[in-house]
Amino acid sequence: MTKEIFETVNHETIYKLSVTNKNNVMISCLSYGANWYELLVPTEHGPQNLILNFSKVADYQRINPYLNMSIGRTAGRIGHGKFNLNGKEISVPQNEGDNTLHGGPHGFHNTNWESAVDGQVITFTKNITADYDQYPGNLAVKITYTLTDDNQVLIDYYAAADADGIFNPTNHAYFNLNTTDQNVKNLTLQLRSSHHLALDKEKIPTGETIANAHTPFDFQTTKTIGAAIDNMQDTDEKGLDDVYLIDEHPENEPIAILKNPDENIAVEIYAERNGIVMFTANKFGADQPFIDKTGQPYVGVALESQTVPNAVFDPSFGDISIHQDETKHYQTKYQIKF
Ligand code: GAL
Repeated sequence: MTKEIFETVNHETIYKLSVTNKNNVMISCLSYGANWYELLVPTEHGPQNLILNFSKVADYQRINPYLNMSIGRTAGRIGHGKFNLNGKEISVPQNEGDNTLHGGPHGFHNTNWESAVDGQVITFTKNITADYDQYPGNLAVKITYTLTDDNQVLIDYYAAADADGIFNPTNHAYFNLNTTDQNVKNLTLQLRSSHHLALDKEKIPTGETIANAHTPFDFQTTKTIGAAIDNMQDTDEKGLDDVYLIDEHPENEPIAILKNPDENIAVEIYAERNGIVMFTANKFGADQPFIDKTGQPYVGVALESQTVPNAVFDPSFGDISIHQDETKHYQTKYQIKF
C-alpha cells in the first residue's frame, strides 16, 4: 500500500493512494474528488486498467465529465435546484443551466478529501458543511474503497447529519474492459431492469416509467452496448444517458454484468439501491486526453448505482432523506473477474 503526492494544485496537495491484493489486482484513488483512479488487473498483455483516467488534475477540472468521481450529496439532477424538505422549499446552487447536477458546483467531486490508507482500505473523510455546498445541514462524510482478496472492490459511503437533509451518493466510474484502444460498443451488458424513467428535454425524470422490453433500452438478456447505441442514432443523445429502475432481486445476485468480447474480463455490480444510471459518453471527443484510450464517443460506460434521482421530489421513487443525528450507509460492490 502507498500514499504519495500526485500533484500540488493551488498550494493544495493531491494524494494518490493505492492498494494491491494477493492476486496482483491494484486499485488507486486520488484525494481530489475521492476519485477512483485505477483498477489494474493482470492479463497476458501486462497490467490493464479497466477504468478511464487522465494524467493531470487540471484535465479533471477543465473537462469535468465527473470521471470516476465520488458524487454527492445527491447523484443526478434536481430540477430548478429546488426540493421540499419537512414542508419547506429548499434551493440549492445550480450548475447546469437552471438545474443542479451531481451535488452542484461544490459537490463531492471537486473537493480535496482527507485521505488515509491502511491494509487494503483507502479512506476519505470530509465535513461537508452547509456553508460549503449550500445544502441543508452539515454532513460528516466517509467514503472507503476496500480491495478484497476475492477481487472485489467495495465502495462504502457513510454520512452523519446534524440536521435533516438529503444524501444519495454514487461513484461515476467509467469502465472500458477492452485491452486495446477501442470504445465500449463491443462490451456486453446484462442489467436487472425491466423499466427505465421517462426524462424531459433537460433530463429531469417526468415520473413516468417505460417498459424496456422490445426497445433498444432492454438489457434483461445480455447484448452488446453497441446494439443499443446503433438504435439510438436518431436521438439527440445518440446513445444512453438513462435512469434504469432495478427490479427486485436476491441480495447475492448482481444488478449488472459487464464483459469484454472474449469474456475473459468481467465486472459484476451488486447494490441494494433501486436505480442505476447508464451513461455511454456519447459526445466525448479528442479533447479528452485519457491515458491509453483515444477520446471519442462511447470511450467508456458509467453504471452509477443510486436511488433514482426523482426520489428528491417524489418519495414513492425511494428515500434519500437523512435525519438529524442519523448515520446513513450505502455500499456498492464491484466483483472483478479475469
Ligand atoms: C451522468 C449524467 C449525464 C452527464 C454525466 C457526466 O450521470 O446523466 O447527463 O452529465 O453524468 O458527464
